[in-house]
Amino acid sequence: MPWPLFFILAVATAFNNPPGVDIWCGKAYRATNASFEPGGWLEQPARSAVPLLDLRIRPRMNLYTADDDRGALVIDAAISHLRGQPLSGEPFDTSEPQSRKLRLEVSVDGTAVRLEHVVTVDSTSVELDFPLCDLEPRFQPWNVSLKAIQGNQVLIARTQVYRLPDRTDGGSVTKIDSLHGGLMVRNSSSSPASWVPLLPYSFYVSWDGWLEKSLDNVQNFKDQGYNIIHIVPNAGLANQAFNFTELNLFLDKCDEVGLWVMYDMRWTYKNLTSVREQVNMLNARKSLLLWYTGDEPDGQSDPLDATKITYDLIKSIDPWHPVSLVLNCYNFYYEEYSSGADIILSDVYPLAVNTSWSTVYDTPCNTTYGCCGCDDCEGNLQDISVRLDRFSEYQSWVSSVPKPLWGVPMAFGNETFWSRYPTADEEVSMTMLSLNHNAKGIVMWDYPTTAELAQVTSRLSRVLTGEPVSRFLLGAPTVPLHATGHPNMDIASWRVGSQMLVSVVSLQSTSWEAQVTVPLPAGARAVSRVLWGSKEWGLSGGCLSKKGGRGLETDLIVVDF
Ligand SMILES: *[C@@H]1O[C@H](CO)[C@@H](O)[C@H](O)[C@H]1NC(C)=O
Ligand SMILES: *[C@@H]1O[C@H](CO)[C@@H](O)[C@H](O)[C@H]1NC(C)=O
Ligand SMILES: *[C@@H]1O[C@H](CO)[C@@H](O)[C@H](O)[C@H]1NC(C)=O
Ligand SMILES: *[C@@H]1O[C@H](CO)[C@@H](O)[C@H](O)[C@H]1NC(C)=O
Ligand SMILES: *[C@@H]1O[C@H](CO)[C@@H](O)[C@H](O)[C@H]1NC(C)=O
Ligand SMILES: *[C@@H]1O[C@H](CO)[C@@H](O)[C@H](O)[C@H]1NC(C)=O
Ligand SMILES: *[C@@H]1O[C@H](CO)[C@@H](O)[C@H](O)[C@H]1NC(C)=O
Ligand SMILES: *[C@@H]1O[C@H](CO)[C@@H](O)[C@H](O)[C@H]1NC(C)=O
Repeated sequence: MPWPLFFILAVATAFNNPPGVDIWCGKAYRATNASFEPGGWLEQPARSAVPLLDLRIRPRMNLYTADDDRGALVIDAAISHLRGQPLSGEPFDTSEPQSRKLRLEVSVDGTAVRLEHVVTVDSTSVELDFPLCDLEPRFQPWNVSLKAIQGNQVLIARTQVYRLPDRTDGGSVTKIDSLHGGLMVRNSSSSPASWVPLLPYSFYVSWDGWLEKSLDNVQNFKDQGYNIIHIVPNAGLANQAFNFTELNLFLDKCDEVGLWVMYDMRWTYKNLTSVREQVNMLNARKSLLLWYTGDEPDGQSDPLDATKITYDLIKSIDPWHPVSLVLNCYNFYYEEYSSGADIILSDVYPLAVNTSWSTVYDTPCNTTYGCCGCDDCEGNLQDISVRLDRFSEYQSWVSSVPKPLWGVPMAFGNETFWSRYPTADEEVSMTMLSLNHNAKGIVMWDYPTTAELAQVTSRLSRVLTGEPVSRFLLGAPTVPLHATGHPNMDIASWRVGSQMLVSVVSLQSTSWEAQVTVPLPAGARAVSRVLWGSKEWGLSGGCLSKKGGRGLETDLIVVDF
């Protein structure tokens, strides 16, 4: 999302490109340069003819602290045709995975921790709880191995668990819940400390253009309902970051009003001296939520190891906070760039843009050439959900832990590739569509925005940052549902206890008259309340239904079971 500076930054670098050829997402985009194969495309692994067991283990929380007395490991023993090892013995019948059992044995090196469990083949998200008392708090991780035993075959997977010493400097700690993808922060008003989920909903906020002008803007922003603030550094300063005198006053104010900070090092993240200075200076701030390094490093074609080198440096100084970055390209060295972050943001800006003809460079755009402002896009809302789905697929192909994805809906326009701003309805659709496709945070580009968008996002923030929504979105897997009677509805659900949150996004821009029916899992009893959108949804015959609706309508409904 640094589009205003795009022109300055997309200078020719030695990468995949011939000398003097400017690139974006690896593609030549100037009319004076010819198309060439950009490379960097992540392919799906070759499909195995026989089913494979894809055995994986990871800690539930990316870190535990001295005050946690129990931890958990999450084990997946999925059947896959893309990754894993063949099962020995009789040919495996994928229609009856339950017929095979796996005995799991987990041990933590250097401790007495031994866990045993039996699961059926093709189980996923199996959680094994264990006491942490044997894992002395320290900065090095503990090595964990998992054996999965089937007959006389033994498969092995490994992971590492962190149990960090408690902070004594007043700094915050942010955990990532690897099961549901949410952030967990300490609830400062409870004693002893408890951890609560946080669903970030906010904007990238202009520092020199707005925030810096008055400290009152911090309270003002918080009063709009946003629960974090992402500050965009000032490339115009000699340090390409912030005036740190002013920044510290700003952070004091954030501490005072209770606003979490997403700290952006977009201009400096490749300068390790600068990163070291910034991380040392700020890591003990009470309001620091997470770090942000590369801003579209894939678009810019930053060196492939840049994000990971910086990641390792940040973690060596500050193991307590996650590192994030945003990727702009459809499929360009995803594995390399994403290896440098715990959280990946996706910024797809698909509205009011011509995705086949570059209005800025006057060239065609396709998979090997051109820059249209939205890489390999169709120019519709679904570009957002397709990209999030692709990113989670890439994550599984490269056998990484499932890193949380966040969405960056566009809240700008009337510039370069984008002929206008999104409407209020479009803004809500982009956000809800992202959440439906498993985004666990929303940071729009950028603020200040139009009065219309400021108003609708402030209204939506009251809903999305409220306890019920984060309890569902960060407390359960995202399960898609399907409607009949409407050609283009995107629906997701989250079930927690005896309630389900259902999010309905109509992707059709025109209104409709027909009866829409959404079958729910067995046991649905009644619509409990509507958090956003139409109050006309009712429950009958185990289905949510309603007659007619508005174009781009979005509804957020709680159903009792
Ligand atoms: C690419 O375009 C630039 C700028 O128009 C031009 O200077 C350069 O010679 C071109 N290079 C090639 C290899 O076409
Ligand atoms: C954990 O495993 C890694 C990789 O196998 C090894 O380099 C490291 O020394 C181990 N750490 C401990 C504390 O045993
Ligand atoms: C934080 O703790 C306080 C006091 O125990 C409690 O009232 C509040 O609900 C907690 N907040 C969250 C978000 O759980
Ligand atoms: C930083 O901001 C302070 C307070 O506004 C100002 O006095 C100082 O000159 C600024 N420093 C630089 C290097 O711009
Ligand atoms: C890197 O950052 C340091 C510290 O801010 C600064 O002194 C140095 O000039 C920077 N180097 C480059 C190449 O920008
Ligand atoms: C994109 O621009 C081309 C060339 O000007 C035009 O033919 C096409 O209709 C435009 N498409 C959209 C969706 O505006
Ligand atoms: C993309 O467009 C360029 C310029 O028209 C053309 O040379 C190239 O072959 C096209 N690539 C594909 C994959 O169609
Ligand atoms: C769009 O941008 C132009 C040029 O910056 C400006 O003159 C115009 O007022 C803007 N239009 C709207 C609707 O914001």
